[in-house]
Amino acid sequence: MKLNIAVLPGDGIGPEVTAQAVKVLKVVAMEFNHVFTFQNALVGASAIDKTGTPLPKETIDICKNADAVLFGAIGNTKYDDDPDAKIRPEQGLLGIRKELGLHTNIRPVIAYDDLLSKASLKTKQIKDTNIIIYRELTSGIYFGDRYLSDDGNTATDICKYERFEIERVTHAAFKAAQSRKRKLTLVDKANVLETSRLWRRIVKEIAPQYPDVRVNYTYIDNAAMELIIKPRQFDVILTENMFGDILSEEASVIVGSIGLLASASIGDQYAMFEPIHGAYTKAANKGIANPIASILSAAMLLDYFGLDEEAALVREGVDKSLKLHITTPDLNNKYDNISTTKVGDFIEDFIQNPDETNLN
Ligand code: IPM
Repeated sequence: MKLNIAVLPGDGIGPEVTAQAVKVLKVVAMEFNHVFTFQNALVGASAIDKTGTPLPKETIDICKNADAVLFGAIGNTKYDDDPDAKIRPEQGLLGIRKELGLHTNIRPVIAYDDLLSKASLKTKQIKDTNIIIYRELTSGIYFGDRYLSDDGNTATDICKYERFEIERVTHAAFKAAQSRKRKLTLVDKANVLETSRLWRRIVKEIAPQYPDVRVNYTYIDNAAMELIIKPRQFDVILTENMFGDILSEEASVIVGSIGLLASASIGDQYAMFEPIHGAYTKAANKGIANPIASILSAAMLLDYFGLDEEAALVREGVDKSLKLHITTPDLNNKYDNISTTKVGDFIEDFIQNPDETNLN
């Protein structure tokens, strides 16, 4: 298969972790006789530094001409402390999601047996957790109008949802549930928010089309608690943009490190694959960033193109690295010198020699 992949490394640890995912994709191409080409483009704070804008037009063009986009991370602490900054790195990520129409964000949350002891939760509580979060990604409060009054004392962010925006991600989530444990939980705040009531109404309307899927409805505040207390009760979680952002980050506590959570952002025409973590500026260029979320995002890219065997091999490489403790310091108390690159090298070697790769 020929694939042209746009690579947007972004900021902070983004370039380091993305380099490992590209390395893995290159070795997959070599081993399976595919032709993957990669074209880099600027986004985020690094794009602001070089071009004055977080999402240059050239970047959008490169993404639109590609078969898929691999995204790194975005953000820089210098903007976080400045509430008056008009141009922000995050506008790059939100802009690309909107430009490419990436409405459905898919975030798997899997508790790996080899990492159960790393999580701050009890092993018996989290063992066998396997959840997939379907987060609506191009609407809601993230994309509603926002204003600050002239006197600077009143701020408004509008949360708006249209029926079609809810329907498309809902169908995707139901279909996913059908291929899993056939349980879907809508997370909303329907006791307070009108948008949530619309979500509930639409999900109830659509549910009969998927009679084999059990549907539950729960409020975000309760879901936030249940996710930690009894994560195994969830299979597919369907939710709106901001709740999905918060819940997925919370879910990383179950997995042991946010450096492990990958995601796919899918639209009608384009698809982008990105770790859920941010730029983690203070860890940049130290070789300590965990590349697994980026490598697993690359595996989701392979899934998207139906390259199942290839994706499975990448995941096996990840599993093996975790089993052998070839992991960066966020997860490692056995060897403390395993760098971002070393994890990538291990998975690269594994793909070339699945039966022989061990720690050396
Ligand atoms: C994520 C991130 C982004 C979001 C930020 C960087 C804008 O937290 O992908 O979850 O809030 O969507």
